[in-house]
Formats: sequence, structure tokens, C-alpha cells
Amino acid sequence: MKQYLTINEWSIIEESFDPQTQEISESVFSIGNGYMGGRANFEEQYSGPSLQGSYMAGVYYPDKTRVGWWKNGYPEYFAKVLNSTNWIGINIGLDGTPLDLANCTVSEFRRVLNMKEGTLSRSFTATTQDGKEVKVESIRIVSMVRQEIGAIRYSLTPLNFAGNITVTPYLDGDIKNKDSNYDEKFWNEVEKKAGPEGGHLTLKTKKLDFHVTSAFVFDILLNGEPVAAEAEVLEQDKYVGSTVNVPVQSGDQLVIYKYAANVTSRNYGLGQLVDAASAALQSAQEAGFVALLTEQATAWGDKWKESDIIIEGDVSAQQAIRFNIFQLNQTYTGEDDRLNIGPKGFTGEKYGGSTYWDTEAYCVPFYLSTADSAIARNLLIYRYKHLEKAKENARKLGYRKGALYPMVTMNGEECHNEWEITFEEIHRNGAIAYAIYNYVNYTGDKAYLGQYGLEVLVEIARFWEERVNYVAHKDKYVMLGVTGPNEYENNVNNNWYTNRMAAWTMEYTLEALAYVQENEGSRYAELADKLELLESETAKWSEIIAKMYYPADEERGIFLQQDGFLDKEIIQVKDVLPENLPLNQKWSWDRILRSCFIKQADVLQGLYFLGDRYDLETKKRNFDFYEPITVHESSLSPCIHSILASELGYKEKAYEMYLRTSRLDLDNYNNDTEDGCHTTSMAGTWMSVVHGFGGLRVLNDRLVLNPSNPGHWTSYSFKIMFRGSRLKVTVTDAQVTVSNETEVPASLTIHGKEYMVNGLGTVSAGGASVTV
Ligand code: BGC
Repeated sequence: MKQYLTINEWSIIEESFDPQTQEISESVFSIGNGYMGGRANFEEQYSGPSLQGSYMAGVYYPDKTRVGWWKNGYPEYFAKVLNSTNWIGINIGLDGTPLDLANCTVSEFRRVLNMKEGTLSRSFTATTQDGKEVKVESIRIVSMVRQEIGAIRYSLTPLNFAGNITVTPYLDGDIKNKDSNYDEKFWNEVEKKAGPEGGHLTLKTKKLDFHVTSAFVFDILLNGEPVAAEAEVLEQDKYVGSTVNVPVQSGDQLVIYKYAANVTSRNYGLGQLVDAASAALQSAQEAGFVALLTEQATAWGDKWKESDIIIEGDVSAQQAIRFNIFQLNQTYTGEDDRLNIGPKGFTGEKYGGSTYWDTEAYCVPFYLSTADSAIARNLLIYRYKHLEKAKENARKLGYRKGALYPMVTMNGEECHNEWEITFEEIHRNGAIAYAIYNYVNYTGDKAYLGQYGLEVLVEIARFWEERVNYVAHKDKYVMLGVTGPNEYENNVNNNWYTNRMAAWTMEYTLEALAYVQENEGSRYAELADKLELLESETAKWSEIIAKMYYPADEERGIFLQQDGFLDKEIIQVKDVLPENLPLNQKWSWDRILRSCFIKQADVLQGLYFLGDRYDLETKKRNFDFYEPITVHESSLSPCIHSILASELGYKEKAYEMYLRTSRLDLDNYNNDTEDGCHTTSMAGTWMSVVHGFGGLRVLNDRLVLNPSNPGHWTSYSFKIMFRGSRLKVTVTDAQVTVSNETEVPASLTIHGKEYMVNGLGTVSAGGASVTV
């Protein structure tokens, strides 16, 4: 872990250039707008270690599966988020020598991600090997207002020479995914056109026929005056560009504005792509760079109004939470229900950029509280639309009925291919059911059940029904051969979490069925018919609920992660020599599997989800047993532990886990940020403040807060949207204040007492030091 970024409330700042950390910074400083995004690569050529990455949401490639030993049931392909046309490129030549920071002495380097206004900027002075000194300043946005538009202002000042500067803005589609299974390139060229003022390039994926048209225009000014020089037009395979040669004197300022548009066949007919890109581009260029910056700042201002968290007295924690919120808001904006949230967002390629259970288990709560409920609803509808594929998946694996959602997907089809995860990590079905509950419980939108939710719930309940088996001598239903959330154990029997979520799904499905039957009789009849729902099925679910087997250790008073867990030698992480950590980089897989060490919350994940069903003592006993043997080697782990630690009053632990989740990428805790940021776990960071320190729950249609102060902060505040109101909750040791920023009144419970906050009103209650 190397901390090299400057602590600042609103910005991420890097104050010197180090090729060793360049790829980490490329991830951390990524910018996007939900529709597209990319890593913080340099505009000018850079020949040092770098992952050039530009990504378009929903544009993917089914890369043929590569495994050592094929197992029946494996998917044919792994869906990769596609690294697509590099639209940011502006090559610079200084009297014929390329400006390339890998070959220059670099001073006064500064890179800033301004999270308040959504800009990425960079400045430096570079001295070339032949002694030419230039000062460069660049600022770049991916527009939150015009989703197809990215824009750059790049300025150059020769400091100690007169000569010729060549400027080559370009589009380069000759791009390869870093993780391509067979070292193949995934794009073919369809058409291109380069002109003196810009050009366009259309590429198509070798499979699935996604078309992406990128187009660019540029303006060059010398000391504020447009440069009239003739451009040399460049066309190569999957490449268009224009080179302009500008004679300069020392001290002159050369400014390049580059506007780029990226449109895809996901939104336009093939014949419309070029026109659509040109139209977007023309309107952006006409608006001008300053106007684009202004509207960007306004759009981000609006986002922050809804989702900011303010922490007083701890700038590092403040920066971290804003970084997490910023990344989430630039990864998924929720307008398009075909999209989802890849574990790396637009910051890298690892994990394929597809949908994991991360969305339901971690991201849905963030969007539920910080955006219009339609956005979380879209995430649910995404899974509804994949129901048929989930049923096909279950059939493919030999189930007679029900649906098994994929572990990893782009279009509803499974594309993960490690048997212990693909076939065994079936708890993802539970998280998808839980998200429906979470949404309905939070929003009160019970109509969702009849509209979409019930169908998904019934098919998941059916899957669980078939997946368990009855054991006569125990008079219990068991579930054999699964992998729980803790991926450091595979093929275990009776993973408590999976059994618990399976039974819970059946309970909730029965409750949802009863609700729809009682309140929407004709819809119920329609659904019962469509689903061919049998009474014998619902009766069977009730029986399974009553007789589900839950491994437990009576003596310790804990739930057992799985049947054989206590046969393991129990050693605490504090007793492992630091040189053995992280285990996944230091130990053989064999050794990890046999050890007691836990990758991420497992039993504790269940105690978080179903928190209202377990008392504090139960949570405490389980936390005290499991946390000390957990290595948190999944980014999804610290947040759940932070939330539970807050609830249990373990302030130091809650804070330690908060820092670990919130600064995971900023401080490169897991030594893997160069692959991309851990975007989905960022929603967990938000949860650790709002659900953890803030103690937010929704119980019986009521907002409940139990705020505590982790002890390092003067105060903190967060925003939550709840059933039409937007509330700002501010917590100090002395007081909890809830201000209603809307006209819609809200009733809530704070530290066990009931309050009503009128439209635009404020209530105050006892502070964070109150113990409940
Ligand atoms: C975790 C999974 C998670 C995946 C993607 C893995 O390391 O164990 O729970 O779904 O990463 O974030």
C-alpha cells in the first residue's frame, strides 16, 4: 500500500509523476457518465506502462471460453466489456520529437479529479531529451448532460525554444482488450473519413454486430487566434486523424479544443450513426468548451445535492466518501434499464464489466436512497427481463423448474466459468430476491410485486425447492455442494447464509403472493395462470421453511458457516505473519481452502440482510467469532463488517473497516487498483456511513435512524430520499438534526422516539452519544 494522493475534501490530487503508479492513477482518476467512460490516460502519446481504456456501457464481446478442462454446463463465452475507440488522443510533436512523458524529465506535475464539477485536469512541465521545455495544461470532461460527448482543452507553451509544434488529434480504434482470451482483437472497421477539421470512424464487433461510431472535431488557437494552417489528413486501419503544424515562439500559448462524440447501435439504426454523431458533435462545438464545463458543473451540483455526505473533522474520510459517491454516480445513472453496474465500472476490464450479485446486494441501497426510485426499479427490471434466460440456465443445469440467475452476465446468459462459482455460488439468487424486498420495503411500491416482482420470486423459490433435499434421519432439508459468499471455501454442505436466504426467499414469496391475491385479485389469477402455480408448491415451500437445516454451534452460540467449519483449525488473522497476506497472493489455493480464513462476510452478510430478525447478542457472538478470522480480501467485505460493528457499538472496528472500504482504491489496499476501481463495493462504503454510522433502516414503512459517531468526526451528514421527501441528516455528539429539503413531510424514528419532519421543516433529537 502506497499513499501518494493528496488529501483534499473535493478533489483527488496527484502532485508528482511516477511511472510506477501511473496505472493505479489511470484507474483512480477515471471519468464517465453512465453511458461511457474511460481511464485517465494521457492525451499525448505515452510509451510507459499503461492500460489505454475507453468503454461504452452495454457494448460487450462474447469471448470464447478458455478453461483447462471443459465441464458440461460451462457457458460458451465470457462477456467482456469492450475496450473501444480511443477518442481522447492528441499527439504532440516538438520539432519532430513526440512529447512522451516516458522519455522526458517531468516537473510540476499535477493531476486533479475535481469531483465537485466533474473534470479531470493535468498540468506539468516536460523537458525533452534534447532540452526543449514545454508547459502543458489539460482539462477533460465526459459530459453528464450530453451523454455522447467528451471534450478536452489542451494547452501548450514552449518555455525555452522557438520551432514547430505538430498537433495530431485522432481517433484510434485499433484497440485490444487486455484480458482477451485468445489474444484476439474484437473490432472490425466499417467505415471512416478524415478531414482537415476532424473525422469519424465506425467499428463493429466481430461477434454480435455492435457498431460504434466515434467522431471528432477540433479547434486550434495560437495566443487566442485561430490557427489557419492546412491540416494533413491521416487515415490508417481503424484510425483517423489530422496533423496541424504550428510555428511557435518561446512563450506562445497553443490551445487545442477537441470535441468527440461516441454513438452506438444500441441507440441508433446503423444508417443513423454517423449523422447522430455529427449532430451531437456540432451542437457541442457550437456550445463551446466553457459552456460544456458550466453545464457539467451544474449537473454534478445537482448530483451532489442528492447524494453528498459531509464529514467534518476528518478530511481523509471526507475525500474518500466523496470519491466513492462520485464513482458510483458516473458509473450508473439509471436511465437505461438495459444497463447495469460492472464491478469495475468504466475504470478497467477485470471481471468482464458484467453484472454480479454486487448490484442487488450492495448497489441497490445506494440508488434507493440517493436517486429517484425509478433508478433502483430499473436495476430490478433488468433482472426481470432476464428471467427467461435464468430459467433456461436452470434447465441447462438439469433443473426441472425455477430460475437460476447467472453469477456473471451481460444479457442474462451465464458467462462465468469456474465450476465452484458458476454452479455453486447460487446464493446470488437470494440477493436478487432480497433486492425486490428491499425496493418494496423502502419505497412502499407494493404494486411492483404484481407487475414484475412476483414472477421473479416464484421462479427463484422454485429453484430453491429443487435445490434442497430432504434427509429423513434429520427430518430436515439440506443444501449440499455450494459456495457461499466466502469464496475461500468451495463445495461445502449447508452454507448457513445460502440456506437462510433460500428459506427467506420462500417466506417472502409466500408473503408477496398473499399480498397480490388479497389486493389485486385479477392480477393474481393472471399470474397464477401464467406461472402455472400449484398449491402443492406453496405447501412445499412452507414445509421447507419449517424444516430447513441451519448448522450452528450451541456452545459458542453461533451459526456455522457450513457443516464442517469447526473441523478447521481456528486461527485469528492477527496471528498470521504479515508476509502471508494477502493470502490470495501468497498461499496456494489448496492451503486457502483448508484454512479457516474467510474472504468476505458470509454468516455476517445474512445477519446484515435479515438484521431485524436477530437480536444484538446473536449478532455480537457471530461477529466476535467470524470477524477475527476474516481477511477481507474481497472489496465487498469491510463495509458489511463496518455496518455490523457500528450496530454493536464497536466504534474503533467500525471506523477501521470504514477507512478500509472507503479508501480501498485511493490507498490501493488490495494492491490491485491498477486493474480498475472496485466500483460496486463503493456502494458498500456509502452503506457503511448511512446504514452503519447513521443506523438507517426502514421498518414497517417507517424510516428508522440510530446514529452513532465513529469517534473521529466532529459531525457528519448525509442525504436520503424517502417516499417523496429528501432529508438531510446531520449527526453530532450532542444532536441529530433532520432537515426536510422538500415539501413532502416525513415521519421517522430516531433513537427509538417518533418524529414528524414537516415539509421544509427540521427536527432535532438526542445526539450520537445516546445509547440505544
Ligand atoms: C467476490 C464476489 C464478487 C466479485 C465481483 C469477488 O472477489 O468474492 O462476491 O461478486 O468479486 O465483485
